[in-house]
Amino acid sequence: MTTLSPELESALAQIEADFHVSSDLLQRATARFVEEMEVGLREAHPRGLPMLPTFVRLIPDGTEKGTFLAADLGGTNFRVCSVELDGKGDFDLQQLKFPVPAEFQKGSADTLFDFLASKVEAFVAKFHGTQTATPPGLGASADACDADGRFKLGFTFLFPVQQTALDRGTLVRWTKGFDIAEAVDQDVVALLQQAIDKRKVPVHVVALANDTVGTLLARGYSLHGSGSTTAIGAIFGTGTNGAYLEKLANITKLGLQVETLAAGGSDMVVNTEWGSFDNELKVLPNTKYDAAIDKETANPGVHLFEKRILGMFLGEVVRNVLVDLYERGFVFQQYRERGRLPHRLTTAWELPLEVLSHIEIDDSGSLKELELGLLQALRLPTTLEERVVVQRVTRAASARLARLSAIPIAGILLKTRGAPLTEPVEVGVDGSVVEFYPGFKETVVAALLETPLGASAKLVTLEISKDGSGVGAALCASTT
Ligand code: BGC
Repeated sequence: MTTLSPELESALAQIEADFHVSSDLLQRATARFVEEMEVGLREAHPRGLPMLPTFVRLIPDGTEKGTFLAADLGGTNFRVCSVELDGKGDFDLQQLKFPVPAEFQKGSADTLFDFLASKVEAFVAKFHGTQTATPPGLGASADACDADGRFKLGFTFLFPVQQTALDRGTLVRWTKGFDIAEAVDQDVVALLQQAIDKRKVPVHVVALANDTVGTLLARGYSLHGSGSTTAIGAIFGTGTNGAYLEKLANITKLGLQVETLAAGGSDMVVNTEWGSFDNELKVLPNTKYDAAIDKETANPGVHLFEKRILGMFLGEVVRNVLVDLYERGFVFQQYRERGRLPHRLTTAWELPLEVLSHIEIDDSGSLKELELGLLQALRLPTTLEERVVVQRVTRAASARLARLSAIPIAGILLKTRGAPLTEPVEVGVDGSVVEFYPGFKETVVAALLETPLGASAKLVTLEISKDGSGVGAALCASTT
């Protein structure tokens, strides 16, 4: 074990302490999460959790059938797929993924939505070639098409949307680096439909679904006949968020609509948009690194929870700490003479999650993999002592991320089921962090035991819902 100088050891220990999420914080934050859920269900424009009604009324039971299109706009990719549901909890999926060019993420609404429509057109041309709008398009049952024989498409839009019907929703704000002011407050379904119609593609956008709603629905579908239920659909990836089934009567901000909606059942899926939890920073940790990173984003001051637990932010936290330790004279001092660090270490968003995953688990004596990772990603040569520092910083920051991720899960379960839990509960999850980051799932599950759910949190499991958002959007389309 390499021994660090006492000064460096004490600076590092302080950073680790600042990143530690205590049991007390988990308790307080979970209680606060439940309070914000209640406010969000009541108020149209809460400062904290938006708690958006989705107009999705049921979690599927696996008997849904037919072929539907789905499209999802994520942080960096636009994906179009067709999903064939076999009615027995299984499906076949064909998909194409297209990177969204950076200039379209900040250009005009027309440019972005025409780009999306062109990809829907390309997908239909490739997989459903000469088929026209005549049923039974895609080889599916006639009810998989709309009355005009157009293919039904569920649109997953990974940004906060205020939905007013299953197929209508206005954009509340952009996140994840997108910034097209004129699209804010516009109906994103209408924007996509108009762009599709301009290109005369026989596709009808019938449902708008957040990816967490899709994850919840897809997991429900795949549990066909198993007797289990899924309580939450959650994403931990380029963004983070969760959805769950709420009693319609509790969503009081729907006002008089509740009476009409009651005919469709007693529940509705709510999209919490938990990335906005504690925007006032009443309970969340706020280190100087968090404050600096928030300023680097397109939406400073909001989505503050997300900015503490996202994959892309993890790299930024580690990078900011390292630059700070350099400035304080602890590491990378060979660069002092040159007067500056390697360019990539001083450039925001240059440390990817994949490199951090390797850093996290490198247990070789000389931390060889870590050394290579930093050389490749940041062109940064390191001494063994520096590598020890990088690994400790990474582990402290990733543990914080995972422990904070337990808060919304505990909050939703506490509100909907109470503590202690009395039966097994499943959380359907998707996203790069939960899928690939070493130890993430285990740390979340362990942290749940320290929330008000206590030992009963042993009944909670996190299950990957593969292709959740695509299949889920198709399932949403199937309900129309
Ligand atoms: C968006 C959510 C989305 C989440 C996961 C967040 O940034 O606001 O709508 O569900 O990312 O993709």
